[in-house]
Amino acid sequence: MLGPLKWQSSLIERYNQQGPRYTSYPTAVEFSEAFAPEHYLQALAKIKQQQTPLSLYVHVPFCASVCYYCGCNKIITKNRQKALPYLAAIEKEIQLVSKQLGCKPIVEQLHWGGGTPTFLTHEQTIQLFKLLEQHFQLADDFDGDYSIEIDPREADWPTMGLLRSLGFNRISLGIQDFNPTVQKAVNRLQSEAETEAIFEAARALMFKSINVDLIYGLPFQTTKSFLETLDKVVQLAPDRLSIFNYAHLPHRFKPQRRIKAENLPSAKEKLSILQHTIEHLQAAGYHYIGMDHFALPDDKLAIAQNKGELHRNFQGYTTHGHCSLIGLGVSSISQLGDNYCQNHTSVEDYIQSLEKHNQLPIKRGIQLNQDDLLRRSIIQQLICHFHVDLAKYCQPLNINWHSYFQDELTQLHPMASDGLVTIDDSKITITDSGRLLVRNICMVFDSYLAKNQPSNLFSKVI
Ligand SMILES: C[S@@+](CC[C@H](N)C(=O)[O-])C[C@H]1O[C@@H](n2cnc3c(N)ncnc32)[C@H](O)[C@@H]1O
Ligand code: SF4
Repeated sequence: MLGPLKWQSSLIERYNQQGPRYTSYPTAVEFSEAFAPEHYLQALAKIKQQQTPLSLYVHVPFCASVCYYCGCNKIITKNRQKALPYLAAIEKEIQLVSKQLGCKPIVEQLHWGGGTPTFLTHEQTIQLFKLLEQHFQLADDFDGDYSIEIDPREADWPTMGLLRSLGFNRISLGIQDFNPTVQKAVNRLQSEAETEAIFEAARALMFKSINVDLIYGLPFQTTKSFLETLDKVVQLAPDRLSIFNYAHLPHRFKPQRRIKAENLPSAKEKLSILQHTIEHLQAAGYHYIGMDHFALPDDKLAIAQNKGELHRNFQGYTTHGHCSLIGLGVSSISQLGDNYCQNHTSVEDYIQSLEKHNQLPIKRGIQLNQDDLLRRSIIQQLICHFHVDLAKYCQPLNINWHSYFQDELTQLHPMASDGLVTIDDSKITITDSGRLLVRNICMVFDSYLAKNQPSNLFSKVI
């Protein structure tokens, strides 16, 4: 098991640059509109031949109110009927995809994300779930991971009962921050009682795992105030925590214009929040899995990491790396063998493609070449396990690791002198001080970055 992280302020300040989060390699910035629906159809046909199990992602983009910090693909409305045309389009998409896949493929993992999936009425939720069951064979409760993102303001005991009875067995709760001043500044008033009620319901209904989302870097947050939130969250004992770094990009996300830059914590305060958060969570028994993610030692993610079986995809860290990932709904991304394919990001285009043109709603994508696949394996290995043996990945391709990655090794040497990595022949290991900066090390192996050099496309690595 990996030991605790070592916080080294001077290294973190020096290396804290912008960089991708590597939920894919190449990153979504490289997807091209030359990738058309027929390419997606071909990729689905291959999956059918190989009969790989599936991981399904379903995007439900609706929210009843807007949180000013939010960077997700969402539609704000209080009218639940607004979901109807969207749900009709998803139905069409499911039919088109499953027609291509043939008889009911096995699904090992299902995740509903958003937006806010619990925005849907009970009737709409049942309909969507039953539709998936009609077209896919969901593994049983023991083998399958069925998770849903829940906004505690948009759920209650009956909703939790419904979700469990349908088959969901994991939940992810948005909390962000319990502090009332912070909540007011981001337009997300959420009482502790509301959140606790969902925890109680999840435990009583035997959900297998609870994840909590928090964000650091929100307006008016201080180290002290965030640690108070963290204390309350630790008392609730979630299995996993995602602690996201707030990226203030008001030019890209309109609601963020309602957040005044002068109310944001300074860069120094933000680092202090993160440092104390890590110390606090480690002292409470949580393991740092990797980028933003912490888990209890008996959680599946921590176990998979110990066994060297962890993967990373668009849903973050996952234990279902062997599955083909099919994304359904607006903006969703599929990962099928050596292809990434993304659906339309505007709900109008998404619905139109399905309803008017009877066509899969693919907007863009990419087919990976041998170099992409090699670099993807190396980046995956680094980001999930913090070490990689270059020779292991190069030998099967008859590639000489030393000459192929000569430039990368040269770039790694100063990082080795700084104590971020150790290099032993073809083996690169990220140290306890380097783990927080894993994105920087992955960036060395990213051959696209040179072309798209530092831009505000990516968030800061810390
Ligand atoms: C789809 S939401 C979660 C479900 C539900 N809508 C909710 O808010 O409770 C996904 C998560 O993304 C995170 N998030 C959204 N916008 C963010 C931003 N600009 N920076 C960092 N994290 C963000 C939040 O932690 C949020 O809980
Ligand atoms: S954080 Fe969740 S509830 Fe808030 S706007 Fe974003 S998706 Fe909707």
